[in-house]
Amino acid sequence: MAKSRTDRRTAPPRADPHSERVLIVDFGSQVTQLIARRVRESGVYSEIHPYDRVDDAFLKSFQPKAVILSGGPASVHQAGTPRAPDALWTLGVPVLGICYGQMAMQAQLGGHVEAGATREFGRASLRVTGASKLFAGLWKKGARPSVWMSHGDRVIEPAPGFKPVATSKGAPFAVLADDKRRFYGVMFHPEVHHTPDGAKLLENFTRRVAGCDGTWSMKAFKEDAIRRIRKQVGKGRVICGLSGGVDSSVVAALLHEAIDDQLTCVFVDTGLLRQGEAKQVADVFRGHYNIPLISRDASELFLRKLAGVEDPEEKRKMIGATFIDVFEEEARKVGDAEFLAQGTLYPDVIESVSFAGGPSVTIKSHHNVGGLPERMKLKLVEPLRELFKDEVRALGRELGLPDALVGRHPFPGPGLAIRVPGEVTAQKLAILRRADAIYLDEIRKAGLYDDIWQAFAVLLPVLTVGVMGDARTYDFVLALRAVTSTDGMTADFYPFEMDFLGRAASRIVNEVKGVNRVVYDVTSKPPGTIEWE
Ligand code: XMP
Repeated sequence: MAKSRTDRRTAPPRADPHSERVLIVDFGSQVTQLIARRVRESGVYSEIHPYDRVDDAFLKSFQPKAVILSGGPASVHQAGTPRAPDALWTLGVPVLGICYGQMAMQAQLGGHVEAGATREFGRASLRVTGASKLFAGLWKKGARPSVWMSHGDRVIEPAPGFKPVATSKGAPFAVLADDKRRFYGVMFHPEVHHTPDGAKLLENFTRRVAGCDGTWSMKAFKEDAIRRIRKQVGKGRVICGLSGGVDSSVVAALLHEAIDDQLTCVFVDTGLLRQGEAKQVADVFRGHYNIPLISRDASELFLRKLAGVEDPEEKRKMIGATFIDVFEEEARKVGDAEFLAQGTLYPDVIESVSFAGGPSVTIKSHHNVGGLPERMKLKLVEPLRELFKDEVRALGRELGLPDALVGRHPFPGPGLAIRVPGEVTAQKLAILRRADAIYLDEIRKAGLYDDIWQAFAVLLPVLTVGVMGDARTYDFVLALRAVTSTDGMTADFYPFEMDFLGRAASRIVNEVKGVNRVVYDVTSKPPGTIEWE
């Protein structure tokens, strides 16, 4: 772990990581965020904005080096469906249309799009018929790359200036190129990992076609963020709530590097954390970084508040409100604090286009410290507002945080309380904590931890009969859950080998008193959710 801090006087400024910006115009695709992530992986900063917010004034201030039009659920044939802002065509910067983005571009520039004639969903094979800068170092004429398609409409006559450079069975103009104006359209989705060469194709677009140098990296971001934090905070005092998770840990380490002992961290032990977590927070932040840390063990208070509460949403509300009360009480001890630091990430900030008609139903309300800044009259410091989760992890490594912390699976705010369906008691939490630790230990030993988005145990409110030795047991059932996902919005259950499940189950039943049966959850999301409550 690095202990050194950037010297306030001598740090040489690196190129501004925001100096090159790609604008992603969102037409409401499920995977627009992936476009932004791939562009950033190519070393270029990108932002997503809804198509109807992109006007002349916006473009003037944003100054994109290139523009990407996302896919979307609409058909360009329907009245009132989205179009790209016309100002884009005269900006003089490259434009790439993806799926719906390609069709909108073609329809707007004089081509013809046919409605729903041939649908093409899933894996498809392209045939490359011409050369293009987009394909540099990737595909030559005659190549048959595999791509991922999802379209109903298709282009049947390209707009003037465009030439076809690849076809597919369902799309005669699967890739269209106008090298002179640097306008391109692809029917497939280069942003998804089912298009194996997609990331490289997007890199060709940002680096070769748009000529970006690649100023976006977590090293450059870190230096820039430190400068911005110092400018915002001045000599002020900042409070940062630590949860033991990745985001708040990275915020704390970054602030510490920027403003040193102007930062005080506050850690509330709700008693709903996993085994060893509270100690790890103290070890890393007080022990290693030597950050002033106020730590409060509020586990008894939380248990009292949760007594008799069975409904999941009631639990969330109770935990959220209690957390804010305790946090406020502790934070007031800092006295003259002016700022509250939060680990808000870019996905929380993006205004996404919703075609479903109005706000979607709340499946689960997520708890955070909302409302606290107003109550305590604190100004917010949110240094991760521009970052995706994988970038936060990379920044954490750049800051020297331990891998075990940076690579951690997401953990919900209400913690183990929503992994004990029904009433939460100290006894149930103790059983769950031990079983969960064994399960995660087996996953780590099998080298599977990083392949899984989230893995955890759930203690079911069900007692079943078993036999151990010669005696009858009547104990709890434990459910194991493990899922793969890219953003937690959808998920697949993880296909463990039977041997692994058998090993984990046997260790848990043998080592954890109170559990005599283990089951594995094979539900995807949807229709299930990741957590059981
Ligand atoms: P679900 O269960 O809705 O979970 O499929 C999606 C992701 O969100 C996490 N989750 C929560 N996180 N407060 C949080 O901070 C909550 O109340 C909450 N509920 C679910 C869950 O762990 C998964 O990563």
